[in-house]
Amino acid sequence: MTTLSVELGDRSYPIYIDQGLLGNVELIRPYIAGKQVMIVSNETVAPLYLDALLQSLAGFQVSTHILPDGEEFKNLEVLDSIFDALLQVPCDRDTTLIALGGGVVGDITGFAAACYQRGVPFIQIPTTLLAQVDSSVGGKTAVNHPRGKNMIGAFYQPRCVIADISTLSTLDDRQLSAGLAEVIKYGLIRDLKFFVWLEENIDRLCQREPDALAVAIRWSCESKAEIVAQDEREGGVRALLNLGHTFGHAIEAGMGYGNWLHGEAVATGMLMAADLSCRSGWIKRSDVRRIAELLQRAGLPVTPPEEMDVARYLKLMMVDKKVQQGRIRLVLLKEIGKAFVSDDYEPGLLEETLASHSLF
Ligand SMILES: NC(=O)c1ccc[n+]([C@@H]2O[C@H](COP(=O)([O-])OP(=O)(O)OC[C@H]3O[C@@H](n4cnc5c(N)ncnc54)[C@H](O)[C@@H]3O)[C@@H](O)[C@H]2O)c1
Ligand SMILES: [Zn+2]
Repeated sequence: MTTLSVELGDRSYPIYIDQGLLGNVELIRPYIAGKQVMIVSNETVAPLYLDALLQSLAGFQVSTHILPDGEEFKNLEVLDSIFDALLQVPCDRDTTLIALGGGVVGDITGFAAACYQRGVPFIQIPTTLLAQVDSSVGGKTAVNHPRGKNMIGAFYQPRCVIADISTLSTLDDRQLSAGLAEVIKYGLIRDLKFFVWLEENIDRLCQREPDALAVAIRWSCESKAEIVAQDEREGGVRALLNLGHTFGHAIEAGMGYGNWLHGEAVATGMLMAADLSCRSGWIKRSDVRRIAELLQRAGLPVTPPEEMDVARYLKLMMVDKKVQQGRIRLVLLKEIGKAFVSDDYEPGLLEETLASHSLF
């Protein structure tokens, strides 16, 4: 088992990564504060993994709350259903909330934990690759508002993160690839060595070889943990984690939520960021091709949608959270493995990138 630590003073916590962790009855128990536990999961994940988790919680008073499956349910109404379930039991202030599922379940459960009785302990058990390498680590919790994604939320760190690689065996291929986009992101923003390792091992990852997955998840979580420890509230370096996201969010919104998965939009968005970095003279066209090749081998889209034009992109990118004083701040690449935040690129070059439908 790999154990990492997110160093945040008295809010530090471990990340456990291995196969078969759900069946490890000793692992989770020290992180449960009182007698009461509520597991929040969804209708897809619960039938697969809830029983295993329940077995390791024998002796506690465990309730479960099962949400409908989908990003459209990450909202205030479903959040309220969690509060309702907690109050109905009733659950006290020492109740530990456990999120068992992907990023949607993790984000909404974390926010419920931040709010219920002004905050109760919380454990993340992520079951998608995206959640294991990204959303379960770092304490961002939220629900969506009709006017914007993730607009209502809080920073609230879990007590521990338990990433059981075995759960990834039931994930569909598209979701696995979407998670790989965020994995590749860590290589691109700060770690050429990891990027090269990914080039050498991407086929093993696509085939879900547990040893390869363990390395990729460990490397990704190490990266995220280091960044979060330096900048928990995204005042500086944490912004690098948004590589490809401003372009990607515009694609997700522009194409209608759910049509492009987040990771798919981020993959194409990272390539757009690479294209703009190349037009700006920082990286070579051969670097852009190299990035595109890895994304393609990971099963990810590398061609921006024909339906989007420059005006539509700009309108959508302006509403993203990363706009300051009217200028869109973007994460760009100085080289593969070195990203930086910039708002002084040439606007004309950005428009060239947005107008281009073949980037390499
Ligand atoms: N908090 C953060 O820092 C952060 C970071 C990135 C993304 N997010 C959020 O995460 C969410 C996306 O997360 P996601 O990609 O995990 O999506 P998701 O939670 O919707 O999961 C994707 C699909 O896989 C299913 N699933 C989950 N685990 C499974 C398993 N083991 N086997 C089979 N099916 C399984 C889910 O039910 C769902 O249908 C978004 O809401 C996004 O805003 C948050
Ligand atoms: Zn993302």
